Amino acid sequence: MEIVLAKRAGFCFGVKRATQMAFEAADKGGLTYTLGPIIHSPQVVQRLEELGVKVLKGLDGISEGTVIIRSHGVTSDELQEAVQKQLEIVDATCPFVKKAQEHVKSLSLAGYDLVVVGDADHPEVQGIVSFANGNVFVVGSGEEASTLPKMKKIGIVAQTTQSFENLQNVVLECLLKAGEIRVFNTICDATAVRQEEAKALAGQVNCMIVIGGYNSANTKRLAEVCKELQPKTYHIETAQDLDSAWFADVNRVGVTAGASTPKWLIDEVIERIKKLDNEKNG
Ligand code: F3S
Repeated sequence: MEIVLAKRAGFCFGVKRATQMAFEAADKGGLTYTLGPIIHSPQVVQRLEELGVKVLKGLDGISEGTVIIRSHGVTSDELQEAVQKQLEIVDATCPFVKKAQEHVKSLSLAGYDLVVVGDADHPEVQGIVSFANGNVFVVGSGEEASTLPKMKKIGIVAQTTQSFENLQNVVLECLLKAGEIRVFNTICDATAVRQEEAKALAGQVNCMIVIGGYNSANTKRLAEVCKELQPKTYHIETAQDLDSAWFADVNRVGVTAGASTPKWLIDEVIERIKKLDNEKNG
């Protein structure tokens, strides 16, 4: 059985950087925390926990040590609290997310009302929104943007994982709402590129394995995209989740992984698929 690994499987630039920074901080020892899970991979979070890095929901009760800011970023209040408490801060916010936060801050200082295109419940969006001083609206689509009130001037940024088309639709609606609009395209194309590659691969194999946290939105979406082309698509977290029955009549299997999946997990999955194949062939 041939195993084809997607070129862009696994860590994106921002997640790779955040993970490296977290392991470096753990190596230094001392009290070390992350505000929320550093990335959406329970296995990486567990490895860090084994090295003494604790996941916190908030900074209540913490008065010393190092706090690592996750790749999605945190709210400006949380950041302020860490500064006030004189904690050592390792800011692993992805630079693309940071850019969106900075644009929101400067637009809002320049008197723009803000429209953030994204999912209001997502921590990245909550972080971005918190950097605004004045009015800020979160919209998930052009349709939602059509219900916005009239404004004098609107500044627009997007959650990094949004589609370009969605941003365009929101911009079109905002043109009807204000005399002046300023748009910053803060979309990061890592997600779109990964999905396109996975789609192409899913069409060329008889079984598709998608590796990533069950809590990772980008992995879930990756599995959905693959399933449209290859009904035998399975979303797994680790090699233990593989089932030999999936490979019964398969001669070509595709493997991809979400942006928070470490390389060692991908390697383990590939090794186990090889092992299952060897067992099948006796
Ligand atoms: Fe950053 Fe893009 Fe990854 S925003 S965390 S490089 S998906």
